Amino acid sequence: MKKYHNKSELSHYLDNLRDDGVTIGFVPTMGALHNGHLSLVNTALDENDFIVVSIFVNPTQFDNQEDLVKYPRTLEEDINLLKSVSKDKICVYAPTVEDIYGKDIVSKSFKFDGLEQQMEGAFRAGHFDGVGTIVKRLFEIVEPKKAYFGEKDFQQLQIIKKLVELYNLPVNIVGCPIHRAKDGLAMSSRNTRLTKAHRAEAPFIYKTLQSAKAKFKTNSAQKVTKWVEAQFKKNELLELEYVIIADISTLKPVKRKSSKRLYRVFIAVYAGDIRLIDNIALN
Ligand code: PAJ
Repeated sequence: MKKYHNKSELSHYLDNLRDDGVTIGFVPTMGALHNGHLSLVNTALDENDFIVVSIFVNPTQFDNQEDLVKYPRTLEEDINLLKSVSKDKICVYAPTVEDIYGKDIVSKSFKFDGLEQQMEGAFRAGHFDGVGTIVKRLFEIVEPKKAYFGEKDFQQLQIIKKLVELYNLPVNIVGCPIHRAKDGLAMSSRNTRLTKAHRAEAPFIYKTLQSAKAKFKTNSAQKVTKWVEAQFKKNELLELEYVIIADISTLKPVKRKSSKRLYRVFIAVYAGDIRLIDNIALN
């Protein structure tokens, strides 16, 4: 499997493939790959002749320095995992910080029609400026036909679609469903950092979201979010940061339900120091 740390070498390699008529798909990641990432990789392999998987822990999207320092970095294992999926249809782009940012490790400032102000944007200052900066740069380097993002980070997915629309980028964004462990916990690179006790308790998040979905059929969004808050107050291991029922196109909290709109419930929870997010469709 080919591995590049340098954007010009990668571009040169991909240009040659494109000259031969090969279609290129793209899966951007921060590594510490798990089956959630692999579900995106497999979808991308189904839909393209060749794919690029980027592995880059992007410093500008972390609002918390400790989280950035402790973010798992497992490049060799990641490559072995990708090799087990395909040896000849994937290449890895694992750039250095300098290859992406040069000397100035700063993000650009973006407006995504207000999508960036909700939820993760409200609780993680600068996060979506960092995401917008890196994803736009990666699209310019890889020039994929299609790029794959998980609904696990649903707000990120909507923001990337908006980025593509606002800048007229020549790439199709494909959203992929959330991959969960057997007990319902959404897979995440951060799960490996959970203590045993927190890992055992973490499926409570998905179970509570499922109950919220059932309650939303006959209750208002306000009632359901209050109910979720009450469940977490009773939980000694998990601390709720936010629960919001939002319209999937504006990501604004629902004030009054309409049968014409689609909604999801979004949640962020601390399990000790580890911050977990999840969401499910409500209708
Ligand atoms: P990362 O957290 O590594 O996730 C890479 C991609 O995998 C994202 O599109 C994410 O939504 C998807 N993903 C993660 N866990 C998933 C799961 N359990 N089921 C389905 N998809 C899942 O998201 C990022 O990296 C970064 O913000 C990035 C887009 C790479 C920019 O730095």
